[in-house]
Amino acid sequence: MENNESKKRILSAIQPTGVLTLGNYVGALRNFVQLQKEDKYECFYMIADLHSITVKQEPKDLRNNSLDLLALFLASGLDGEKDPIFYQSHVPAHSQLGWVLDCFTYFGELSRMTQFKDKSSKHADNINAGLFTYPSLMAADILLYQADLVPIGKDQKQHLELTRDLATRFNHTYSDTFKVPEPYIPKVGAKIMSLQNPLQKMSKSDPNENSYILMLDPLDRIVNKIKRAVTDSDACVKRGEGKEGVENLMSIYSAMTGKTMDEIEVEFDGKGYGDFKMAVAESVVAVLGPIQEKYKDYIKNKDYLEKIYRSGAERAMYVANKTVSKVNRKVGFIRP
Ligand code: TYM
Repeated sequence: MENNESKKRILSAIQPTGVLTLGNYVGALRNFVQLQKEDKYECFYMIADLHSITVKQEPKDLRNNSLDLLALFLASGLDGEKDPIFYQSHVPAHSQLGWVLDCFTYFGELSRMTQFKDKSSKHADNINAGLFTYPSLMAADILLYQADLVPIGKDQKQHLELTRDLATRFNHTYSDTFKVPEPYIPKVGAKIMSLQNPLQKMSKSDPNENSYILMLDPLDRIVNKIKRAVTDSDACVKRGEGKEGVENLMSIYSAMTGKTMDEIEVEFDGKGYGDFKMAVAESVVAVLGPIQEKYKDYIKNKDYLEKIYRSGAERAMYVANKTVSKVNRKVGFIRP
């Protein structure tokens, strides 16, 4: 197989479709940083700009959001000099392998993707082919790097399962070509819920701004949003039936402080929701405050950002092109 280095590989990505939510941070970005720090993996972290145009984008906003996201990656603690951070559109291999994998993905499989069903009902005026075939492109993103591990939130699990099926299908049709990747889904915080409706995922496309926390929200707004979060009339900080709102705040607190859910129940035993919400808010501010400060420095330093994404693309291309050549040869294309 392609992975000759002793280190295992990680690939993951986030779309530049607006400022990240606390859900993106807890479910994904925070784990990107932790896994990179473990130093056991070679980490490829990507800004999935090709994916983002499956939904209409204003070009100027897309450019700004793409640079913002790189600055946020760095501000959150990713080291772009140690491992590559790059834009998907800078590495043509993604589109190349994406096409080949399109031809190995069945209509029925794509039709079953819950994210496609969700997004096509939200954007009924623009159900384009890219929105439909997006999971094959995501599979290409991962398989190009022969990734062992893919850190994601729960909502991407179905796409990862399809990726594994496609890798296995291709390997059986030809011969061993792709590593079959494993998901890395955090135990706590894999699905942070809306603060206003804890039965729904926290998402920046929610029309109610109080339902989500953005990583760059002013700190006093974050505190207010948490104070207004929907809970229940029980006044008891515990998990359980009908207590999804409290459990969601507990997950956030757990992710921010490293405390377990059991420890949190003990800590707030006999205390009311006022105290609990204040503690959650302070824990979020303690994590996001310093990230926001670093973000302000990085976003001013366009030369540094450019240096990171250029060298990132070069390093990514080196690995990705090798996989594309191998795939093209196996499929039967004449060598260029
Ligand atoms: P995206 O950009 O929607 O989300 C980025 C990451 O954040 C996670 N996430 C959440 N985790 C917990 N709670 C939430 N409320 C929450 N909302 C989002 C997502 O699970 C994801 O891990 N298709 C991907 C991007 C992508 C990708 C890839 C990921 C493209 N190619 C290859 C992994 C590997 C997406 O749209 O994520």
